[in-house]
Amino acid sequence: MERDGVNKLNGKVALVTGGANGIGLETVRLFLENGASVVMADFNAEAGNAACEKLCAAGYQDAVTFIQVDVSSAESVASMVVSVIEQFGQIDILINNAGITQDSMLSKMSIEQWQRVVDVNLNGVFYCTKFVAPHMVQKGQGKIINTSSIVGVHGNIGQTNYAATKAGVIGMTKTWAKELGFKGINVNAVAPGYVETGMVASVPEKVLALMVEKVPLRRLGKPSDIAQAYLYLASDDANYVNGTVLEVNGGLVI
Ligand code: CAA
Ligand code: NAI
Repeated sequence: MERDGVNKLNGKVALVTGGANGIGLETVRLFLENGASVVMADFNAEAGNAACEKLCAAGYQDAVTFIQVDVSSAESVASMVVSVIEQFGQIDILINNAGITQDSMLSKMSIEQWQRVVDVNLNGVFYCTKFVAPHMVQKGQGKIINTSSIVGVHGNIGQTNYAATKAGVIGMTKTWAKELGFKGINVNAVAPGYVETGMVASVPEKVLALMVEKVPLRRLGKPSDIAQAYLYLASDDANYVNGTVLEVNGGLVI
């Protein structure tokens, strides 16, 4: 299909985890518009297949594919990476975007709530990067973008588990920027503020209103605000950006 847009990702293969909804889905759309072939990887097969069908109907049938994965399972991630390499031969861009919340005050947080969020948000980023990075190293180039959060930098009431994982993602980002940088791979993180997706739907109205009031731009982020940050870091425009945490939060914490 003739692609509109600026084609910043022509010829690139991008793997977007959590690609079936919210920020991930908007990223899949934007990357397709910019000329990439995109694998949308997600645990939610119903949403993933439906989104993929829509994108195919919009003319991207040769460029988009859905694959089911549970990023919290090393076996599932390993077999996803084998399939993607079989189908596309390469992975140029990895967006470690899949994530969950299970909020609770420290006093009420169960061990299961702690463990599940760590399994998905922290272990998931480790597994995906561990299995994808060797293919990038072999090619001598690649872009890895990890999704942190404002909460990973500043903490948040009710999010001990989530904050720990999103701070951990920053630690991994900086470590991999050092380990993989001299092999031609840039590793960066994006730390979004509160963004209008299913994830914020569970936040009590009162708390959300408090957050919006504190944002100088007086609005929540849109999925496209974050997708544009991913696009920048995935493109050649960011070839000298490595190990950074790009905060996209409307100025919430200044
Ligand atoms: N900031 C400020 N105050 C908060 C707060 C927050 N994030 N979360 C809760 N509070 C306040 C409540 O308003 C309440 O105040 P009052 O006693 O004055 O009414 C007090 O703390 C206790 O809260 P609850 O009565 O709601 O206590 P609970 O035990 O029933 O629920 C909770 C606790 C599950 C943490 C619930 O308050 C909650 O969901 N809070 C929001 C947590 C949040 O912000 N999550 C972000 C999800 S989106 C995301 O994670 C993406 C991202 O990266 C930003
Ligand atoms: P979302 O809930 O709309 O989408 C998350 C996607 O991840 C879903 O499609 C879900 O099925 C998938 N997913 C969950 N567990 C998975 C697993 N085990 N394996 C594979 N896929 C899985 O959430 P949203 O808002 O789009 O979040 C995307 C990323 O952005 C997450 O990492 C989140 O922590 C982060 N973030 C979100 C913010 C927000 O306010 N929405 C703010 C800061 C960071």
